[in-house]
Amino acid sequence: MKRDVIIACDFSSAEETFQFLDKFQDEKPFVKIGMELYYAEGPAIVKAIKERGHRIFLDLKLHDIPNTVKKSMSVLSRLDVDMCNLHAAGTIEMMRAALEGLTRADGTRPLLIAVTQLTSTSEERMQKDLLINATINDTIVHYACNAKEAGLDGVVCSPLEAGMVKEACGSEFMTVTPGVRFADGEVGDQVRITTPARAREIGTDYIVVGRPITAAADPVKAYRRCMAEFVGEA
Ligand code: C5P
Repeated sequence: MKRDVIIACDFSSAEETFQFLDKFQDEKPFVKIGMELYYAEGPAIVKAIKERGHRIFLDLKLHDIPNTVKKSMSVLSRLDVDMCNLHAAGTIEMMRAALEGLTRADGTRPLLIAVTQLTSTSEERMQKDLLINATINDTIVHYACNAKEAGLDGVVCSPLEAGMVKEACGSEFMTVTPGVRFADGEVGDQVRITTPARAREIGTDYIVVGRPITAAADPVKAYRRCMAEFVGEA
């Protein structure tokens, strides 16, 4: 698996997104489209970014009955995204249905990864609100193993959890990790963070980086720095 940097395009309009992407003349970064942009602009934004030659991680975190997820995934697959995701809490059956829906007639499909526990959920809230009587780490590893059993490619997790997921599910099982900050940069609202260089040491496959690139004075320079530290090439 080749390491790569995914830029979180957390913008609320196509105009803002293209203004940002226009800055990249020499490279075509892998980009993440989240709910905000997708709900604002619809499938057209995915097609337009794809036409510009970018790979796309469509971060819509599906979670519904298996049949609905299967049918929705088949629509997303036709959009030709490269990676999409769902909540592992939807059960192994839902994840299997999602994979079926995602697989195209020619047998190809986008990568499918699962959210285990959102990093905004504390162990206390998980136990009290969700009535899950386990530690958060055990829950994350268990959900990751469920995702593997269902045939998924990996999970989204904090960089600090990537090691234990790899240990439990094997090094081939992908980890995609947000919460990345430069050693000398702003932390913002992220709590469990790591640098691109440390993420590389941990062995994560993809890092998802938003504001350290999108809010940088020179986003292309920040992206290249991230690539250099994480992938080892500019
Ligand atoms: O700007 P920043 O680098 O914090 O952006 C990180 C991106 O990763 C955002 O799109 C955020 O929604 C997403 N994300 C996250 N933590 C998770 C899952 C997704 O920060 N657990």
